[in-house]
Order: sequence, then structure tokens, then C-alpha cells
Amino acid sequence: MENQRIAKISAHLYPSNSQVEDNSGLRKENCRAKGGAPGFKVAILGAAGGIGQPLALLMKINPLVSVLHLYDVVNTPGVTADIGHMDTGAVVRGFLGQAQLESALSGMDLVIIPAGVPRKPGMTRDDLFNINAGIVRTLCEGIARSCPRAIVNLISNPVNSTVPIAAEVFKKAGTYDPKRLLGVTTLDVVRANTFVAEVLGLDPREVNVPVVGGHSGVTILPLLSQVKPPSSFTQQEIEYLTDRIQNGGTEVVEAKAGAGSATLSMAYAAVKFADACLRGLRGDAGVVECAFVDSKVTELPFFASKVQLGRNGAEEVYQLGPLNEYERVGLEKAKKELAASIQKGISFVRK
Ligand SMILES: NC(=O)c1ccc[n+]([C@@H]2O[C@H](COP(=O)([O-])OP(=O)(O)OC[C@H]3O[C@@H](n4cnc5c(N)ncnc54)[C@H](O)[C@@H]3O)[C@@H](O)[C@H]2O)c1
Repeated sequence: MENQRIAKISAHLYPSNSQVEDNSGLRKENCRAKGGAPGFKVAILGAAGGIGQPLALLMKINPLVSVLHLYDVVNTPGVTADIGHMDTGAVVRGFLGQAQLESALSGMDLVIIPAGVPRKPGMTRDDLFNINAGIVRTLCEGIARSCPRAIVNLISNPVNSTVPIAAEVFKKAGTYDPKRLLGVTTLDVVRANTFVAEVLGLDPREVNVPVVGGHSGVTILPLLSQVKPPSSFTQQEIEYLTDRIQNGGTEVVEAKAGAGSATLSMAYAAVKFADACLRGLRGDAGVVECAFVDSKVTELPFFASKVQLGRNGAEEVYQLGPLNEYERVGLEKAKKELAASIQKGISFVRK
């Protein structure tokens, strides 16, 4: 009896075919912790990884989350048990391996995807393409089957190609809603805010730098002419900041010297963006973030710019606003590279 009660309490921590359930005869639907608190259901795919773990930790303390599903192909029982001990409101459930993908996704409002391999020194984001493209395709096929109305936050690189891949998968399945698919470029904004604040001698929390285009190298286009609070920069500062923002990822990859790419700042950025999506879903007004989305802002089918987040996802995609000459030149460079990366993603699914 006592054992049964303990098993019952902890049943929600384990994948549905775990030993706890087998021994006790308990089923997930019988456990007491059902996530009854009001809030959203969020799944993280790739939850045991370098980004996934701190992301899971931060989502567990997000008061807008009532149920948190952690899915990966390795190690989710451990991560789930660990995160599940935190005395915050969200109920945490773990799912391990492809056979449990459907259960992980059923009923989710928001799905965050940091699954894949990270960049190693000497690797470009495009080197990751073949591995991550296949992973993203499989996971998006699962989303199309199990939670086609969920908002999707795609982190897996190269974002410039994985977002078009996801769109093609959803189109094939007949579930594509461009408002609900968002490539996460928040880390570029977070870095831009930090580096610009450093140069201006301000608190980064007071600084807001729009970053548009895409999410790799020259496609990352910080609009320093539109920084808030309004600020002016010397040409030397503009060049230093643009270069540092565009290569912030490489700065971390090199400093980690073989141990992966940005994970902690990325988890922070992912939660900042996911929280904005959840506030939008809740109906808050004026939630605006930069993201890589289906877009008519340029002639390219996808582009990162400021978007208004609402009950249906990216409800409005904003124009770029006035650019100076330096930014116009940067935009042309960005578009050239972006066009090729987008096409690469589309061809991967259509081939
Ligand atoms: N958007 C951004 O700004 C940004 C920033 C940093 C990293 N990234 C990208 O995020 C991804 C993850 O990086 P990381 O450092 O956490 O890598 P990681 O290797 O530490 O973790 C990736 C996790 O994904 C899991 N995984 C692999 N295949 C899977 C599948 N089919 N289904 C579910 N999970 C699967 C792995 O088991 C692992 O736990 C990489 O593609 C990286 O390039 C994006």
C-alpha cells in the first residue's frame, strides 16, 4: 500500500513503460499530479542536451507552464527525475526514444526543439546540416501527427535551413500554419543587447537592438541605427559591434575548445522567447520579439524581423524600418546567403 502510494506520486516522472509503472500497475492517467494548475503544456525535444537541460530547468520555474514534457533519445529519465524534484508548479514528465514521441507531443501548446548536434571548432553551421536536417524532419513529422496546432520554437541549427525544412514537412502533412513556426534568433538579440550595452556603458536590460535577417554569420544583421534608447555610434564601433554580434557563436565555440557551442546563454534566450510566445498565447498585448519566420518583408520566403506574438503565434511580421547605408549593404549580403540556405532546406524535403 505504502509502496503503491510512493509509486503513484512519482509515476509522472517516468516514461510510460518505466519499471515503476510496470511494478505498481499504475498508469500515468491515475497519478495524482496531472498538471491541474492553470497554464500551458510545453514539450522540449532534445531535453537531455547541453541546451535542453538548462532550458528544462528554466521552463520548470516559469509560472506560465503547467505541464513540461522532456523528450530525448537518451538520458531523459535522469533529467526528468532531477528537474521533477524542483518545488515549482509545472508537472514534469519524461519520454525516451522515438516510440514515445507521440505521447510526448500529444496536447502540447508549445514545442521547443533544441535537438541535434552542436557546432565544433572548424565546423560551420552548414556542416551540421545533414545530421540536424534529418532530426528536425522526424520531429516535425511527429508534431504534424500529434499536435498540429502547437506553436513551434525551432533552435536546431542551421536555423536558416531547419525552419524551411519544418515548413515543408508541415505543408506535406497539410498542417502548415506560418504563424506557428518560429525560428529562434533571440540569442543574437541577447548578445547584441549585451555588447551594445558594454560599448555605451549601459545596463543591458535597458538596451534593445533589433537583429534581422537570419541566424548565421553575415545573415545576422543588427540594426544599430534603431537601437533603443536612441544612440549614435562611431563607424569603428559599428564595425566592431556588427562583427562581434555576427560571430558571437564562434566566440563561444572557440572558448569551449571542442566541448560544444553556446548552451547556457542559448537556454536563457530560448526561455526569453518561449515566455514571450506563452504571454502571446495568453492574450497579452504588445509582445514583440525578433524571430525567423515565413515573411513578405523581403523577396525571400523566410526572414527574421520583429514579430508581434499573440494567441495564434506570429500574428504580425513587422517591416524593417529605415536602414542606413551600412545596413543596406549588409542586407544585400545577408539576402544572398540566406536565399541559398533556405533553398537547401526546401530541397532537402522535396528531393
Ligand atoms: N538557435 C540558436 O541560437 C542556437 C544556439 C546554440 C546552439 N544551437 C543548436 O542547438 C542544437 C543543440 O545544441 P546542444 O549544444 O544542446 O547539443 P547537444 O549535443 O548537447 O544536445 C542535443 C541533444 O539532442 C538530442 N537528440 C539527438 N537526436 C535527437 C532526436 N532524433 N530526437 C530528440 N533528441 C535528439 C541528443 O541526444 C542531445 O541530448 C544544435 O543544433 C546547435 O547548433 C542553436
